[in-house]
Amino acid sequence: MPPIRDSGSPTAAEISAKVRPRVLVEQNSSDEQWIAIPEPVVERLRQFGRPTPLHRARRLEQHLGTGARIYLKREDVLPTGSFKLNTAIAQAYYAAEEGRTTLVTETGAGQWGMSVALAAKMFGLKAEIFMVRCSLEQKPYRRHYMELLGATVRPSPSAHTAIGRKILGEVPDHPGSLGTAISDAIEHALHDSSAAYLAGSGMPHVYLHQTLLGLEVAQQLKDIHGEDLGVEGRGDHLIACSGGGSNLCGLIGPHLRARAEGADLRFLAAESTAAPRLTQGVYEYGRTDLGAFTPEVLGYTMGESFVPPPNHVGGLRNHHSSALVSLLRHEGVLDAVAFDQRTALEAGRQLLQTEGLLLAPESGHAVAAALEVVAKADAENLEPVIVILASGSGFLDLQGYDEVLLDI
Ligand SMILES: Cc1ncc(COP(=O)(O)O)c(C=O)c1O
Repeated sequence: MPPIRDSGSPTAAEISAKVRPRVLVEQNSSDEQWIAIPEPVVERLRQFGRPTPLHRARRLEQHLGTGARIYLKREDVLPTGSFKLNTAIAQAYYAAEEGRTTLVTETGAGQWGMSVALAAKMFGLKAEIFMVRCSLEQKPYRRHYMELLGATVRPSPSAHTAIGRKILGEVPDHPGSLGTAISDAIEHALHDSSAAYLAGSGMPHVYLHQTLLGLEVAQQLKDIHGEDLGVEGRGDHLIACSGGGSNLCGLIGPHLRARAEGADLRFLAAESTAAPRLTQGVYEYGRTDLGAFTPEVLGYTMGESFVPPPNHVGGLRNHHSSALVSLLRHEGVLDAVAFDQRTALEAGRQLLQTEGLLLAPESGHAVAAALEVVAKADAENLEPVIVILASGSGFLDLQGYDEVLLDI
């Protein structure tokens, strides 16, 4: 089955061509193995601290008494506090090159919005951001950061758009979701010809930009730590949380070929029980937004009417998985596990108390998954290399840690 269904309506493709910078649309279907990173993008990536460290979590290993070697890819050290900056810089650059003057996007927990706000400023652009309402209320500091950079931030569902007004008309206290926010942002971008709509995840061009994660990990494991990945019988794992799938695909993408050629390597997605598509969803056509601006893609879904319960893991509350993540799962290349926020935040606390690192609740899901993998490897007397994508910092999520773990 094709991943994108031709619904007879050219609207979604036309919309995409109109609101997205042309290069990004081309990158979505490129069959080139390598696409060069433009020099101004490389310059900004370096300025903001790339390559980020690959940290060996020895104290966590000691605490667990495991023979596994656990590594953390430290995206939390980037200035916006998450890996989202990698693609924001590239997308802002391409939009500016095409003469667009405003970047429009949605954001869940606010990490993506912060990255777009900073990238926009770097290339002299304006930013307009629709943030999921319940996250906006939980994480006001992310809004302050975006506004400090000159961005306009609106809650979603938004009274500013027709789709937002329709949703609010039906459910006045709608908490918002990525589905509502994507619709608000695309509708807004459609009405402004100087605007470019940027996707924070779910699209092949975003995954492409994030593959620098997996490429850096491979090189750092070899050059700095002297590790080979995928040694037969050892059960090595690459683990990332999965919302729209971009930190996951960025980490595993460069390793797919090695696995197809026989490397003993497992890929593990950690999702939230608030939207457990990969572990409990149905594999069928659906859209990632509620306004039907995006095409129907084949993927694991909770259904378009699904409203995830408000919780502290804004980045993992998507109702529909992307075509690529879903295909990898469907073909058995990708394993998946789901955790509730308490378990993820508990894993985050364990990492803080051993390594001294405070990660975002989303990343806590990957840590929780790694703890399960370690326990299983220990029981089987295996000593795998385990790489956890530390997708973001938790400093602006302390309220979530407090409400879930301390306010008992
Ligand atoms: C810190 C962090 N990690 C992970 C994610 C999930 O995104 P994705 O699945 O696209 O990697 C988000 C999304 O907002 C995030 O903010």
